[in-house]
Amino acid sequence: MALTVLGLSGALGHDPSAAIYVDGKLVAAVEEERFLRDKHAKNKMPIESTKFCLAQAGITPRDIDVVAVPYAPISLATPARWHYAKRYWYAPDRSLDALLNGNRRYRRYVGRIREMLESLGFDWNKIEFEPVEHHLAHASSAYHLSGFKEKTAIMGIDGKGEYATTFFGYGENGKIHKIKEFYDPDSLGGLYGAITEYLGFDMLDGEYKVMGMAPYGDPDKYDLSRLIKFDGKNFEVNTDYANVIGLRRYKEKGRGFYFSPKLIDWLGPRRKGDMADDPYIHYAAAMQKLYEDVSLKLMDYYLGDIIKETGLIAFSGGGALNVKLNQKIIARPEVKELFVQPASGDAGTAVGAASYVVEKRGIKVEKMEHVYLGPSFNNEQVIEACEQHAEKPKFLQIDNVPQRIAKILSEGNPVAWFQGRMEFGPRALGHRSILGCPSFKGIADRINEQIKFRERWRPFCPSMLDRVAKEMFKVDHPAPFMTFTFEVNEEWKERVPEVVHEDGTSRGQAVKQEFNPRYYALLEEMEKRTGNGVVLNTSLNRRGEPVVCTPTDALNMFFGSDLQYLIMEDILVVKAEFPADIQEPIN
Ligand SMILES: [Fe+2]
Repeated sequence: MALTVLGLSGALGHDPSAAIYVDGKLVAAVEEERFLRDKHAKNKMPIESTKFCLAQAGITPRDIDVVAVPYAPISLATPARWHYAKRYWYAPDRSLDALLNGNRRYRRYVGRIREMLESLGFDWNKIEFEPVEHHLAHASSAYHLSGFKEKTAIMGIDGKGEYATTFFGYGENGKIHKIKEFYDPDSLGGLYGAITEYLGFDMLDGEYKVMGMAPYGDPDKYDLSRLIKFDGKNFEVNTDYANVIGLRRYKEKGRGFYFSPKLIDWLGPRRKGDMADDPYIHYAAAMQKLYEDVSLKLMDYYLGDIIKETGLIAFSGGGALNVKLNQKIIARPEVKELFVQPASGDAGTAVGAASYVVEKRGIKVEKMEHVYLGPSFNNEQVIEACEQHAEKPKFLQIDNVPQRIAKILSEGNPVAWFQGRMEFGPRALGHRSILGCPSFKGIADRINEQIKFRERWRPFCPSMLDRVAKEMFKVDHPAPFMTFTFEVNEEWKERVPEVVHEDGTSRGQAVKQEFNPRYYALLEEMEKRTGNGVVLNTSLNRRGEPVVCTPTDALNMFFGSDLQYLIMEDILVVKAEFPADIQEPIN
């Protein structure tokens, strides 16, 4: 009998998701936001995602052996709750609550999970329910899915789970060992998030934008070191300024922020609008540098010996999506390989909780080679969606999709590309993407202004043939998930300027034929036409929306943008006319 484990995230009030392991195989994983069309699906339960995962696995609730959640009760015998109580003395209600009733949130969450599962037909008394500590779930999602065989350093950085915010440990023979944890409010992810709010973006979402803004600023122009007390071994966030709760919060129109009015007195008013301007670009640069410096020093202190031994690191938690920090980790001479869980935000903890349980029962989980774990749709379903859509789209089934789409792209047109199973995690990796030709001048601006409606200064990223990645980047390191930036070689900066960031780096996806044959074929056709086996790849969504899930979502997005071409499986949808030669033989 196979072991079947359902992992569910969402305990922290954002990013609910579901995942199913059948023995060591991850058969499905999906975020609830994609179904609800509501980014991060705040305060929702993973109902639709659970239904999808069951259907994809071809099983019913009765076939699930274990339900694993990445949120666990925390004992008073550990330092976590005491630390919290001491550090939040200025908010006595919260402080006392941590000591007297510190697992209230957990109990409430279990109640909600039970209610949800029963509504889906689960028998609560027949399933095993297994809570996994939040940071162990993050750790498992990185270490157990890395495929690393040798001893591996494990790092976890996020806002917070139950109480822990930062995790250092190692994995050996499938077992995870803790070395050190830090607790709320001493959180690097939380601090980055608080400054993200100060810079005018949303926490859990805008951190990327701060990182994208940072290269425009001078990190040494303003000294932000007072935000954090750090001696190389321990750190404390300065809660006079950031990671604050209750009365210490800065408020605007009834909304409270995780920074204090004192921060405003020091740095000036909170940033507004879409421009990357002074002094905020310098603050973004300084925050990024502070985050990198402290993280790297902590990594050295707690994990340095293990890294020297094998050179392997597994990294997860929202802080692992900081591709610039990851670039610096890879640049270390003693680092052989870094694996970053592509769904490092809390959605990925559904996978991590499940993989933790599977490994605990002695079954090895497979290496994560791709993230195509969501729903897919065939030509018939695409045609049906087109026929039923209010905009009455013009559509046509075409042959030789990679060849024909490469031609349209190379003529300077962006194309919405919808193929196969939807990606799990925040990055579109060639199944729900908007593509462009990266050597076509102005294509990035065009996609930005007419389709994505996002801030002008945010960079676009490339996907390339795996063999091209080796030529394009200065470092040879696996890059399947857009979790790292790399320095681009001079020649390639000129060949594909539209996907090189201000600082000469690029967050690339090296595509392997084995896991994405059609996307690979498209890249090969681009190489034939333009000389570069590279495309600009950005997620198929508009600003503020989750990535497209269904053909109907894609059509809604298509008609709400200036895009002219949408290819779903073999069905080409156009707004004006089909290319004249679309049905003539090609090549
Ligand atoms: Fe987390």
